[in-house]
Amino acid sequence: MLTNPYTPGQVPRILAGRAPELSLIRDRLARVEAYGELSGPLLVFHAPRGIGKTSLLREAQREAEEHGFVTAWVACARRQPLLSELVDRVGHALEVAEVVTGRGAGGWRAQVQKVSLQVGPPGVQIGAEVSRAPETSRPPAPVAALEDLLHDAATKVRKRGGSGLALFVDELHAAMRPDAAVLLNALQNLDGRREDNPLTVIGAGLPSTPEELTKAATFGERTSFVGLRLLDDRGSKQALVEPARLLGVSWDDRAVAAVERSARGYPYFLQLLAHAAWQAARPDEGHKITAAHVRKGLPAAEEQLEAMYRARWRAATALEQDFMAAMAAEAGATTEPGEEPAVARSAVATRMGRTSRAVSMPRDRLLDKGIVEPAGHGLLRFTLPGFTEYVRTQAAAGA
Ligand SMILES: Nc1ncnc2c1ncn2[C@@H]1O[C@H](COP(=O)(O)OP(=O)(O)OP(=O)(O)O)[C@@H](O)[C@H]1O
Ligand SMILES: [Mg+2]
Repeated sequence: MLTNPYTPGQVPRILAGRAPELSLIRDRLARVEAYGELSGPLLVFHAPRGIGKTSLLREAQREAEEHGFVTAWVACARRQPLLSELVDRVGHALEVAEVVTGRGAGGWRAQVQKVSLQVGPPGVQIGAEVSRAPETSRPPAPVAALEDLLHDAATKVRKRGGSGLALFVDELHAAMRPDAAVLLNALQNLDGRREDNPLTVIGAGLPSTPEELTKAATFGERTSFVGLRLLDDRGSKQALVEPARLLGVSWDDRAVAAVERSARGYPYFLQLLAHAAWQAARPDEGHKITAAHVRKGLPAAEEQLEAMYRARWRAATALEQDFMAAMAAEAGATTEPGEEPAVARSAVATRMGRTSRAVSMPRDRLLDKGIVEPAGHGLLRFTLPGFTEYVRTQAAAGA
């Protein structure tokens, strides 16, 4: 049997159906490459879990590197300082790319360390200062420090013959608001001297990201937000067929249709089902995957999915489980495919027979773990497609 080319839970070998998004990314990279200037406002992709945000960003990073960019990657996490991490990653990226070498490397490292201290942690007081500061006054110290560092890094890359600096920020919804405020302010200022800053910043996060960023800085809405959709039938088919074709294995049309029906364009399910069908078929070069293989693989794929839901459910305390069960009971039918229904916080508390304040602890813990997210004013939803239904079943079974 050939090695299984499908990648449930990992960056896919073939990024299917994302031509429009990649073209937005390429435009930005091209602008930096051609003019040595900042590529416009922050570009942020948002979608629920498992739709392919990280995969898209990784592909963007790969292309940026192919086009002579030095790249740095950072993933935000709740209650963890973002900026010092970001600064360290940028510092490290320049060293690895040998943009700074010899004696220059020592000076660079010292500068990075200094800025790292200036921007945090924890950055809480800083943020309050930033959001109060009128846009015209001198920028607060952390903003200026970050701005200078990004400027220096990007121009150093350019001077060394590179295209510029490309920064990727994943899980942006989880950034602490003060940190996001500093980042947005720094980018805003760099945009004022656009031609001096060969830089692009691309981010991704859950659907709450636009709201979070807009709260972090008044001009957060100047960011370009792009919602990532489920894959359409062509994209789904490509995700299934292409990785196999490269190994000389084909998919029967009915097998493709069977996977499409179960996955409904959700990339994580597609990978799970394709992986399982491949395991069932154990193909060699020239073989074909059939609908019978898909059927045979189905229990294994469902077991995996169930395991993912179960891990989240079991890791929750009794109170958190009560909270989730109340959410699932309140939820109506899913409106948007791939996005779970939104539920009013107050209704969840009422259903639990408590005040809103009394349920703030389990709610915050579930937000921290990325199991639920804010969904507009006073609303919440599960981040993982299909989880509402799973919780309903668990609650009904009294598990
Ligand atoms: N365009 C695509 N083509 C094929 N497979 C994809 C595509 N996008 C994502 N996948 C697959 O879907 C799964 C989830 O992708 P990814 O981790 O990028 O999603 P995500 O939106 O970042 O999720 P999370 O919010 O949990 O971090 C992975 O198994 C990946 O291989
Ligand atoms: Mg991700």
